[in-house]
Amino acid sequence: MRQYAVKGGAPLVGEVEIGGAKNAALGILAAALMADETVEIENVPDLSDIDVMLGALKTLGARVDKVNRHTVRINGSTVHTTSLLDDALNKIRGSYYFVGALLGKYGKAEVILPGGCSIGSRPVDLHMKGFRALGATAEIDHACMVCDSEKLTGSHIFMDGVSVGATINIMLAAVMAEGQTYIENAAKEPHVVDVANFLNSMGASIKGAGTDVIRIKGVERLHATHYSIIPDQIEAGTFMMAAAATKGDVLIKNVIPKHLESITSKLLEIGCEIEEFDDSIRVVSSKPFFHTQVKTAPYPGFPTDMQPQIAVVLGLAEGTSIITETIFENRLKYVDELVRLGANMRAEGNTAIIEGVQRYSGGNVTAPDLRAGAALVVAGLSAEGVTLISDIHYVERGYEDFPEKLRSLGAQIELVETDKDIQRFKLRVS
Ligand code: UD1
Repeated sequence: MRQYAVKGGAPLVGEVEIGGAKNAALGILAAALMADETVEIENVPDLSDIDVMLGALKTLGARVDKVNRHTVRINGSTVHTTSLLDDALNKIRGSYYFVGALLGKYGKAEVILPGGCSIGSRPVDLHMKGFRALGATAEIDHACMVCDSEKLTGSHIFMDGVSVGATINIMLAAVMAEGQTYIENAAKEPHVVDVANFLNSMGASIKGAGTDVIRIKGVERLHATHYSIIPDQIEAGTFMMAAAATKGDVLIKNVIPKHLESITSKLLEIGCEIEEFDDSIRVVSSKPFFHTQVKTAPYPGFPTDMQPQIAVVLGLAEGTSIITETIFENRLKYVDELVRLGANMRAEGNTAIIEGVQRYSGGNVTAPDLRAGAALVVAGLSAEGVTLISDIHYVERGYEDFPEKLRSLGAQIELVETDKDIQRFKLRVS
């Protein structure tokens, strides 16, 4: 069984480089098939979710060339099918972007329903409603999203709820529709803006991404481009929490500090020192933490994808902290795992009630999902003794070279597969 073995207790110190945003890359890779010319995309993170997307592009018939570890060239002119039924695609979330991209370009799509982390019911009704508003038929049939249209026509779409996935997906479908589309109550996340910027660099006409209303004027075709994906807000935030929880001093490079504001402001409130530079951010944690309250919200609010990581830090704060999860209904599964490491916290509905403890102690835990898995690593790094984290395939979906990057900051963390590996790790760190 593949696990991370972590010996905690040492502060993380040094510099770490953040990679390209996974959730932007998922939308951008699907969007890439919409051009009949070659698009070159840089700063693509090297992650298992990305491999699944690249595999799907190949299945569709697109030409995919990896120029180097983080640069890929895609040419969609050879796409010969609009069906994606491979089971691998229902392990990830971003596969739903192929629906918008294929429908937008070819007028039809048949894509297996997405999976991703089990953090709530995660319906796709808003996506389908948007496609229908553009004139397509859109049904769920045998666990597939099936969409068809003679001609897509621009429309006025009001989103009942703020959804990152639906906003991007409808944007993809509308880019080549006839006339003007308005998406109201759109998600404003940085990766929504990045996908829009990518599409605009291919000749699309999208205005207002990053605000509540996105305006899209349909164009006939999309052309070649050369584009670099924005840094990953959540990877950066996770390293910020790791610096805080271990009482470290870390310079996190290649970030957009503006995207991290909600995270920065909570860390300041808790008692960390933060220094912001043009494209890096330094987190210094030397004082006891104050307790606080955190409520997740769509951007620019506190990201739901950072909720488990900040819980780890608050678990070490003096007094009672409260976290309220407002986006997903089942995102506190990590609480029981942290309790195994000595945390004093409990989940009541969508609220985590956290009484701070002096320190965590090592133990055996299981990653319940991607971000919670990363949070358990952070907890292990701040715990006394050795922590073993299993189900790390979740973590690998979203964090490139996680153990390597942490080791460069002085962490003792290793990927172990056998009992012998674990014994060897324990001997080495004892
Ligand atoms: C994306 C991110 C995920 C992040 C989330 C919220 C990707 C691949 N994943 O997920 O990491 O946690 O945004 O920032 O980018 N909803 C509906 N109907 C729909 C769509 C969504 O009711 O058709 C609801 C969801 O159940 C949830 C809320 O809207 O309660 C927000 O979900 P959404 O923003 O769509 O999240 P995802 O795109 O799934």
